[in-house]
Amino acid sequence: MNKLIKIELQKHKIGLFSFLLIYITDIILSLLEPVIFGKILDIILENSGMVSTDLINKIVLLGLILLLSFVLTFLYRRIIFSTGRKVKQGVLFSLLQRLESANIKFFETIDKGTFVSYIINDINEIWSIVGHGFIEITRVLAYTIIGFIISIKYVNFSLSISVFTIFPIFLFLIIKQNAKSQKLLRDKQDLEADLSKQINDGFCGFTVIKSYVREKEVVDKFNNINKSLKEKSIDYNKVIAHIDAISTVCRGISFSIACVYGIYLVVQKVITIGDFVAFNSIIQKVLSDYVYTGNLVKKVNTLKIVNKRIDSLYNIELDSDGTKNMPKKPDINIKNLNFKYNNESDNILEDINISIPYGSFIGILGNTGSGKTTLANILAKFYKVEDGKISFNNIDINEINRTSFYDSISYVMQEDYIYNNVIKYNIDLGKNYTEKEIEKSLEYSSLLETIKSFPKKCETYIGEDGIKISGGQKQRLILSRNVISQPQILIIDDGLTGLDIKTRKKVIDNITKNRNITLIIISNMIEDIKNADKKYILEDKKLKELGGKN
Ligand SMILES: Nc1ncnc2c1ncn2[C@@H]1O[C@H](COP(=O)(O)OP(=O)(O)O)[C@@H](O)[C@H]1O
Ligand SMILES: [Mg+2]
Repeated sequence: MNKLIKIELQKHKIGLFSFLLIYITDIILSLLEPVIFGKILDIILENSGMVSTDLINKIVLLGLILLLSFVLTFLYRRIIFSTGRKVKQGVLFSLLQRLESANIKFFETIDKGTFVSYIINDINEIWSIVGHGFIEITRVLAYTIIGFIISIKYVNFSLSISVFTIFPIFLFLIIKQNAKSQKLLRDKQDLEADLSKQINDGFCGFTVIKSYVREKEVVDKFNNINKSLKEKSIDYNKVIAHIDAISTVCRGISFSIACVYGIYLVVQKVITIGDFVAFNSIIQKVLSDYVYTGNLVKKVNTLKIVNKRIDSLYNIELDSDGTKNMPKKPDINIKNLNFKYNNESDNILEDINISIPYGSFIGILGNTGSGKTTLANILAKFYKVEDGKISFNNIDINEINRTSFYDSISYVMQEDYIYNNVIKYNIDLGKNYTEKEIEKSLEYSSLLETIKSFPKKCETYIGEDGIKISGGQKQRLILSRNVISQPQILIIDDGLTGLDIKTRKKVIDNITKNRNITLIIISNMIEDIKNADKKYILEDKKLKELGGKN
């Protein structure tokens, strides 16, 4: 069982244990009902309708059992359904919390569609398995075992044995069918993930699809996946239907034996009519659950797959966190840094050395693909580097805890994310900044006038990926988000490319006016960094100094 699900189940072990206790008691009671009923029938037949105290006692007992059974049913259902929901919520919460500290590599390897499909489908399955699944499994097992014991004890040994021996054969047949269904289900779920990915691509890339007139290909691809999915679903349901058919046949055989052999034993006077009625009623109760075997098999199969997939999400590499706080007004030092991506053989950066005193303005130029973004990502602690290569006031980057680190450093990424929310949220990310602080941050990125001209101002919704504002406006919004926290270090990686020359100059002036901050601007336009204290160029994997301020 997956570690996360196990932890959550353990948290609710009292609930689960009391569910089992109550439910099994309820099952015992419901199987004792026919026994008592049989006894009542025998007393009536023997005394030819005369009312005796024994008869009244048995009737009262039956009434009490029915009443208790009613209360227990209410209780166990309440317990298991609320536990199921709590387990589901718990798993979802821990999983999302874990993903928050996942290493960036994880997000580079999993695609969004697959991920969403895992989260939405699998987590819901947990609820259905822990809720209904627990009830069904307990029910089938407990009814069969307790039904067998009670009928041996209160009815007749040979009759019970002859009817119940059919169950192991039945179980064997089901397990054989089940092997088939597992593979089909796995294929089916893979196709569901493909479909989800396809829908995601279709949504996010709709402008590309339109401008390259790719609608037909996209629809065809979608149809193909959908068709395969339909076929797999039908095959899967066929196997499940076979399982249901086997259980129906098994029910028929058991029931026939119970009737024919039961009547024979009554005629031979080995058992009473009351025993016969009681046994048939017990068998009915036991067998009624075999109708759901297909359903149960489906749940067990799904649990296996869900378990594996949640495991794969759970076992992701987490970012290690340091214990030291980011120092105040830190000087940055990079020494002999080499870097290559995980599965690549070549270094992207080689022997990088740079000292950045607090408050200085550093400009880095370089052609596309020269490794500028890689360097910025490393400085922003997105990728782990060897110990001793990057330090902030002599504290190694790996030793600094993430919270204090990101309180101190802001990074305007080349491709930053815009939330499908209002402007205000895209700046303050839900933190409590005053209106004045927000305005100041917008002024900083020369966006205040534009936003003031919107009828709803900062409360304007800007749509998914900021579709309702221009590229340059998006970049300036992201800049506002990055300066509102008044960071000590600001890194801007090609973050102003969408601005016209005039605005770009104004924004750069605003940024560079503020000298109580370390500023690292990465650009491919020398104009952007003309006032830098030091200018560098990334070339042939190395960082070379270009000369002082001029
Ligand atoms: N996540 C990644 N995994 C593997 N290679 C990458 C990754 N990101 C970038 N690269 C490679 O690293 C090189 C430098 O990329 P990048 O740092 O983005 O350059 P720049 O920002 O200067 O344009 C490129 O060859 C690019 O293909
Ligand atoms: Mg780049």
